[in-house]
Amino acid sequence: MSSDLSVTFTGIKFQNPFLLSSAPPTESESNIMRAFEAGWGGVVTKTIGMHPVVNVAGPKTKFLRANPETGTLSMNKGRAGVLHSSWNWELISDKPLDWWIPRLGRIKKAFPDRVLIASIMAGSGSDKELDHWRTLARACQEQGADGLELNLSCPHMDRPDMGSNIGKDQAQCSFVTQVVKEVAKVPVWAKLTPASADMTVEAGAVFRGGADAVVSSNTFPSLPPIDAETLEFEMNVDGLVSSGGLGGPAILPLSLANMAKMTQAFPDRAFSGIGGINDFGHALNYFLLGCGTVQVCTAAMLDHAVGPNVIKRLIQGMQQFLERNASRGWTKLEDFRGIRRDRVVPHSKIRRPEDSDYAGGYDAEGYAEPELAEKTK
Ligand SMILES: Cc1cc2nc3c(=O)[nH]c(=O)nc-3n(C[C@H](O)[C@H](O)[C@H](O)COP(=O)(O)O)c2cc1C
Repeated sequence: MSSDLSVTFTGIKFQNPFLLSSAPPTESESNIMRAFEAGWGGVVTKTIGMHPVVNVAGPKTKFLRANPETGTLSMNKGRAGVLHSSWNWELISDKPLDWWIPRLGRIKKAFPDRVLIASIMAGSGSDKELDHWRTLARACQEQGADGLELNLSCPHMDRPDMGSNIGKDQAQCSFVTQVVKEVAKVPVWAKLTPASADMTVEAGAVFRGGADAVVSSNTFPSLPPIDAETLEFEMNVDGLVSSGGLGGPAILPLSLANMAKMTQAFPDRAFSGIGGINDFGHALNYFLLGCGTVQVCTAAMLDHAVGPNVIKRLIQGMQQFLERNASRGWTKLEDFRGIRRDRVVPHSKIRRPEDSDYAGGYDAEGYAEPELAEKTK
């Protein structure tokens, strides 16, 4: 008997909880069609803006590999090594809204039972910019998009009122969410940036603005390594580099830490997990912390551009997981979603080898007595 992988997330029914995230795998009509044919339950389009953008004169993405024999961690050397991360400084879709409009309609017509989420982005510094959010939202939903994902998280923005600069500012991200919610007829997800001291602050802000879900997260701000021989950044244009975003395996534990904080702070809210997912075991982490869907980018980019093998692994992995746990009465994601959320506790709650009290670093616990410290100098 095949298991039921379907989920309902923010009121939208998905055949399975696995989505391609907003990125190169979803940058075109043909990619999205291929992704649906391969079995993805949903896709989030590459972020759509009002105007065309121009990318840097050179590669936009590279993959860092770690070679365990030589210790090399490089984008350009040691390709035999294992994947560590992706690094990119790609902007949003270089095709504007007008290009996307007929395509969204065609995709939805071809795959009415698959979920199409439109990722959108504009500025927030003027009424005109706020109107762009409204225009983007209306146009995408008119073409049949099942939901909207607000890109409040693109890490490569010079403008203080765009991308992760909105996402780092609780007032701005709450307000933008509110503006879109006022015109939205479909669920609105807010994709946040990990470039925050405490993502629960921004999560709370977008929920106050009316967001139906938080998506976490976009890539982590980072630089490519410098080559020890050439003394050049491994990725640069005319010797210059700018902050880009890290994705892939390296960010899985970092994203989980952010996700755990948010799902604990808002246990009744919807979360879509992103960061370093390549197989069901990775996705399971997010589900156990409370996520209702997950999204994939780097692993899919490296698998025929849209991840046909990745989605096969995710689906098979979930089917096998449900079969293995049938004796617990688990038949669907909802039966195990969030069951490890409460295992993340303050340090002082972790058992010590001796039964003595640990006061979380207070009362000089864990520190040498002043006299002893003096003697051991
Ligand atoms: C080349 C590239 C382009 C991306 N473009 C977008 C984008 O346009 N909008 C967006 O919200 N996220 C974008 N992302 C972020 C991904 O959707 C995803 O959040 C991130 O890569 C982490 O997932 P991963 O670890 O599976 O790669 C991009 C990522 C990469 C690598």
